[in-house]
Amino acid sequence: MARLLTFTSALVLALAGVAHAEGNPAAGRAVFQTQCSICHAVTPGAGFKMGPNLHGVVGREAGSLAGYSYSPAMKAAGFVWTEDKLRTYLPNPRATVAGTKMTYAGLHNPQQVADLVAFLATQK
Ligand code: HEC
Repeated sequence: MARLLTFTSALVLALAGVAHAEGNPAAGRAVFQTQCSICHAVTPGAGFKMGPNLHGVVGREAGSLAGYSYSPAMKAAGFVWTEDKLRTYLPNPRATVAGTKMTYAGLHNPQQVADLVAFLATQK
């Protein structure tokens, strides 16, 4: 019985580890290049592309970058971009911010999402 319990808790810990997989920022940079850089710059002062500059996005209020013309939906989103919020948003942007003009279908690979968010968190 004790062994079964030990095994079960090890399994639970292993699964929790998967759910909160640590992202790899270097891998995330590559994901950013292929998935996001067509519409977003991430270096400070690089300005806007079709989307706002994502430098310092973690910790920034949604829809708040001065000079960028956000959709009314993003302006009214009323939350701060945390790593958790990005992990929720990126697989399905329109489910998190209904009416966003970010026409991106979503990033569905959980490891790529974790890596990308880890990369964004270093861009500050
Ligand atoms: C086809 C162009 C396009 C692609 C590709 C794209 N985005 Fe966007 N993104 C936008 C636009 C346009 C907005 C502004 C949305 C609005 O105002 O509703 C935006 C907004 C955002 C915001 C909100 C920023 C803020 O200041 O509130 C985040 C975060 C974001 N994008 C992350 C990403 C990431 C990460 C990727 C790559 C997985 C990505 N986007 C891919 C066009 C794009």
